[in-house]
Amino acid sequence: MEIPKKRVALVTGGNRGLGFAIVQSLAEAGYAVVAAARSCTPQLKELVDQNESVVFEALDLAARRELHEWSKRFVEKYGAPYALINNAAIAHDGVLGTMHESQIEEVIGVNVTATLLLTKYISRSMLRNRLGRIVNISSIIASTGFNGLSVYAASKAAMNGFTKSLSRELGKVNITVNAVAPGYMETSMSAGINDAQLDQIRRRSALKRLASTSEVASTVKYLLSEDAAAITGTVLTVDAGNTA
Ligand SMILES: NC(=O)c1ccc[n+]([C@@H]2O[C@H](COP(=O)([O-])OP(=O)(O)OC[C@H]3O[C@@H](n4cnc5c(N)ncnc54)[C@H](OP(=O)(O)O)[C@@H]3O)[C@@H](O)[C@H]2O)c1
Repeated sequence: MEIPKKRVALVTGGNRGLGFAIVQSLAEAGYAVVAAARSCTPQLKELVDQNESVVFEALDLAARRELHEWSKRFVEKYGAPYALINNAAIAHDGVLGTMHESQIEEVIGVNVTATLLLTKYISRSMLRNRLGRIVNISSIIASTGFNGLSVYAASKAAMNGFTKSLSRELGKVNITVNAVAPGYMETSMSAGINDAQLDQIRRRSALKRLASTSEVASTVKYLLSEDAAAITGTVLTVDAGNTA
């Protein structure tokens, strides 16, 4: 009997926070996972050392001009991936009026432009297989709003629009495109939110708690499964009922 080759999943920002939880979850589910970020963290290195199905690849989404070459090298090395998880993102906290233009450009450059370009190049390879799953990590802030995060919100709302239209382009070749919109999770990105604010978020959530990174990762894993084959063009909210 031929042993089936593992399906490859590329997870951007896979070295910490939600991305690392997604890498763990997909590796446990039997995927070969490529965790891409600017650097390899100790926790990712430990996982790579323990699990031969997880590898690290250096990727800087701010180096836009290198994304085409990076994607070509990726496909040469790993083949066309089954799944692309666009998870990497940055957030600069601050009101729009005083935010430096370079910070606005950086957020849109990494969260939107680079994500679109990487998806363009990686999805091309998926086309040949007529098979694939793309998951874009959005945020509830794309639709709820949060003081001091207007640029970040714009970048996440872009993910929702991108998801819907791209699902129409790629549906004919059997590639699904969905977004997952997490509520607040405790990662380095949300470290600026103080305990009182976090308590308020918990109190206002239907389940009286936050969603964890592993719960959001499980939703990504579900969207990659056969059970989710008919789901495309959706934004799935995972926020413990914060926006209910
Ligand atoms: N935390 C929350 O409450 C929350 C809520 C809703 C949605 N989200 C979304 O969840 C996703 C993961 O966020 P997180 O909370 O896990 O944040 P995080 O801990 O700050 O992780 C961000 C990830 O993005 C990567 N990244 C940043 N800039 C990059 C660049 N130029 N090139 C390549 N990778 C880059 C980081 O790796 P390096 O910096 O090492 O390269 C890191 O792996 C993001 O899309 C975020 O918008 C988070």
